[in-house]
Amino acid sequence: MKLADNKATLSFSNGKPAIDLPVYSGNIGPDVIDIRKLYGQTGMFTYDPGFLSTASCQSAITYIDGDKGELLYRGYPIEQLAVNCDFLETCYLLLKGNLPNATEKKDFTDLVTRHTMVNEQMQFFLRGFRRDAHPMAILTGLIGALSAFYHDSTDINNPEHREISAIRLIAKLPTLVAMAYKYGIGQPYMYPQNDLSYSGNFLRMMFATPCEEYKVNPVIEKALDRIFILHADHEQNASTSTVRLCGSSGTNPFAAIAAGVACLWGPAHGGANEACLNMLEDLQANGGVAKVGEFMEKVKDKNSGVRLMGFGHRVYKNYDPRAKLMQETCDEVLTELGLEKDPLFALAKALEKIALEDDYFVSRKLYPNVDFYSGIVQRAIGIPVNLFTGIFALARTVGWIAQLNEMIGDPEYKIGRPRQLFTGSVRRDVPHITKR
Ligand code: CMC
Repeated sequence: MKLADNKATLSFSNGKPAIDLPVYSGNIGPDVIDIRKLYGQTGMFTYDPGFLSTASCQSAITYIDGDKGELLYRGYPIEQLAVNCDFLETCYLLLKGNLPNATEKKDFTDLVTRHTMVNEQMQFFLRGFRRDAHPMAILTGLIGALSAFYHDSTDINNPEHREISAIRLIAKLPTLVAMAYKYGIGQPYMYPQNDLSYSGNFLRMMFATPCEEYKVNPVIEKALDRIFILHADHEQNASTSTVRLCGSSGTNPFAAIAAGVACLWGPAHGGANEACLNMLEDLQANGGVAKVGEFMEKVKDKNSGVRLMGFGHRVYKNYDPRAKLMQETCDEVLTELGLEKDPLFALAKALEKIALEDDYFVSRKLYPNVDFYSGIVQRAIGIPVNLFTGIFALARTVGWIAQLNEMIGDPEYKIGRPRQLFTGSVRRDVPHITKR
């Protein structure tokens, strides 16, 4: 962070003296006005619900240019990473700042692969859930519970503990997501198999049974790996900010990541892919492509409460580069599985076509986001709709950890503690119960 060659001056119309505020520049992106001393100097807070104009931290991990539709992990464009790297290389990059060379890649892959099993006791913990529990409810519980199993990696201030917990979380998330799925359908859990890739192993834990040999389909394996890469990090979004805020109290990494999972669940965030597919299925059941026009009228009617799920983004106001890559993957997977004529895909394309031409969406800069197509890919692979957000959580875990570790290592890090504009009752006395 370097001082910019200008400063901001804040003046008041009530005669209070104006103050100068320092301005800092990042390497790219907007400058920031440093308001840390504002309260001390003026007795006033800033007001920014939803953090529309607030940089909550400095970070060197992920950069998004919403107007250009650009997403960089450690400087590398997502389009290049998605084509040239696998997910574990991307994890290494996010965690350590640089892409691994061949030896580093092998060592890192071996390390993650050797930590994929979970404590056997975990499955008894899982049994406490109802079989029809939502996988995100299960995952929030299981991930939080990891801190009860791995006592040797819960001190967030110890760099070695942070390193071990990072590997454990990245390695064990696929195992836990697959266990949540198998539990729901009453099938035996499949132990990880170490000669498979990260995504190949996940596919096997999801879809194999002990009765038969399971062969990983390389097209599906690659598609899943791409889903993981595209979801690996997205700078200071709601769940990442939750992880940072939660971790800022010094809680253990497993607890902080569980908080991120809970936040991700919401339909405005990671739950959007589930909500998007539910929307497409509902529309398909109620007339399909023929009813698209009518549905879009509802979306545009503010009183209907209906949103076009998978559309719009807080940051991307041009296009979401992940959506483009996901659309390509969608084509590849549907062709591989002979589902080119999949009616939901046709429906999604019809909705997209209208939205890209309709003034309501164009004027508000609403474009398809990554979730618009990722649900269709996952459904084609055989992943149940209620597990979509779990897959997102699996992939985002590395981003959360990288951001959490960056925060803990930042000398300017403090417990997060926003302030408020109080609009409740001023001080009053408690009346006796007979007088209330
Ligand atoms: N359908 C219809 N109208 C919309 C939509 C939508 N999907 N998204 C935004 N709008 C309208 C909104 O009503 C508002 O209109 P007006 O200015 O007339 O009041 C305008 O567009 C701006 O919307 P906003 O809610 O102020 O925008 P935001 O930046 O706060 O919200 C969003 C971003 C992603 C929450 C929102 O676009 C949305 O709810 N989209 C659907 C859910 C979704 O797909 N979420 C996944 C996000 S990508 C995955 C991730 O990174 O987590």
